[in-house]
Amino acid sequence: MKPSEIRLELLQQHDQIRVIMEVTKTIAESISAGRPRRGDLSGCVLRLADAVRAHNCREEALLLDFIPSVDAWGGAREAIMRKEHIQEHARLDVALRGIPLASPDLAAVGVVALMRLMREHMDREEAAFLGEDVLRDDVVVANQTDG
Ligand SMILES: [Fe+2]
Ligand SMILES: [Fe+2]
Repeated sequence: MKPSEIRLELLQQHDQIRVIMEVTKTIAESISAGRPRRGDLSGCVLRLADAVRAHNCREEALLLDFIPSVDAWGGAREAIMRKEHIQEHARLDVALRGIPLASPDLAAVGVVALMRLMREHMDREEAAFLGEDVLRDDVVVANQTDG
């Protein structure tokens, strides 16, 4: 896969995750505001967690061997990805465990805060290792076998 193809696939997944996050946040805000029509908050968080886990696996599979050699900051970029993923998994696990146990109001507040943290996480990833300046097709990478 070319770096530009990797970038496109991972950014498309970020966009899909952002859509699920928007739906989840809208439901959480409806609950917080006491509106009568509510959605399935737990179902949305589960769907979001599945999408994020699949994306993180794909991100690591496509980038962990590649990112360290991409430029002089490759090692730092890899460290950011590893750290971000550990934090993100922990946050989602806390949310998933907490939502069924918490009152709807408390769960909704937690979800809104989680969505903000996840948005910031994806922004940091896009700056650290998913930018056009990092995943360039003219980068020469050792051990790249698919041309
Ligand atoms: Fe990630
Ligand atoms: Fe990501």
